[in-house]
Amino acid sequence: MDKKLKVANIGMKFGMSHVEGAMSCDAEIAAICDSDEENLRFAGERYSIPEEKRFLDYKDLLEREDIDVVTVAIPDQQHCRVSCDFLRAGKHVLCEKPLALTREDLEEIIKTEDESDAQFMVGQICRFTPAFEKAKELVESGTIGEVYFIESEYAHDYMKLVDNWRSDPLRHGVIGGGCHAVDLIRWIVGDPVEVFAYGTHKLLPTVAYDDATVAIMKFNDNLMGKVFVSTGCKRDYTMRTCIYGTKGTIICDNTSPTMTLFTTDEEGVVKEPQTIDVQVNNHNAAKEFEVFADAIANNRKVLTDAREGAKTVEVCLSIVESSETGKPVRPDYNF
Ligand SMILES: NC(=O)c1ccc[n+]([C@@H]2O[C@H](COP(=O)([O-])OP(=O)(O)OC[C@H]3O[C@@H](n4cnc5c(N)ncnc54)[C@H](O)[C@@H]3O)[C@@H](O)[C@H]2O)c1
Repeated sequence: MDKKLKVANIGMKFGMSHVEGAMSCDAEIAAICDSDEENLRFAGERYSIPEEKRFLDYKDLLEREDIDVVTVAIPDQQHCRVSCDFLRAGKHVLCEKPLALTREDLEEIIKTEDESDAQFMVGQICRFTPAFEKAKELVESGTIGEVYFIESEYAHDYMKLVDNWRSDPLRHGVIGGGCHAVDLIRWIVGDPVEVFAYGTHKLLPTVAYDDATVAIMKFNDNLMGKVFVSTGCKRDYTMRTCIYGTKGTIICDNTSPTMTLFTTDEEGVVKEPQTIDVQVNNHNAAKEFEVFADAIANNRKVLTDAREGAKTVEVCLSIVESSETGKPVRPDYNF
């Protein structure tokens, strides 16, 4: 890229990974912003950002002409308002997942993206996780034949994370965290046409939503799927994912240095499993920013634009609706 991108990073907790992602792509950090003074100071000192580039109110950055790209890593409830404000101000926006929590907000971001000349990307970071990239490559190369079943889980103990905006009933665990597993499945095999879900609530007494949900999915093309989301689980964080095909099976996750590949011989007999080494890089913010910067430089849309992010949230909303009504739900992808 000939011109150095100038970046403003909003939200200085998980958002510090965006500072690092931008820095690793040789972008210039023009501003950091956090409404909490202490978090702002901590990040400023950590990355040696001078005080004149630290802001408490993102609105002070809207009119700044020396900012090309904004990253948004603040509570999910605010993604829509803040991303839309920056898009309207002509800034390219990389916003954290989930895109938004309600159908109204999803539609608002899509409309604003359509009306803006700036680019928008939702950070579905699992699409840059080495094991999942490899799994998709193996599926696309036909190594495991035709996929007939895919399952992914999002198991993450939120016990110490929920006494804040994450306990909002709108921020159901299936949407906030489960969107990773749902997006991974959509990315590899496409959109489910129907979902059916059950939920239980045993582990997080202070949240209003189920802390475990299992959803089965029906796809076109004789294919099934399953998502398991547990936000109270008593184990290390994992997104264990299995992909079953007519000629083999892939078992992988985002926290292991290896993945397992089963393939078959010419007679369909399963061979010794192969162990494939993969880099553990669960939050590959550098690659995510690189892809966005490349799309901006070449004026090309990213894969995870607002519509794509909205489809993932729509599946999550359908899962929540099914677990609450006890009925199958067909996601409405008509955005
Ligand atoms: N991709 C991933 O795997 C991943 C992991 C963690 C979090 N996230 C997402 O990142 C976002 C932030 O999560 P977090 O864990 O950092 O949350 P957090 O609550 O730990 O931190 C949020 C930060 O944003 C600041 N903030 C809140 N409102 C603001 C505003 N209007 N302007 C400026 N700053 C504001 C807060 O002061 C705080 O420092 C969420 O959308 C979350 O879903 C994604």
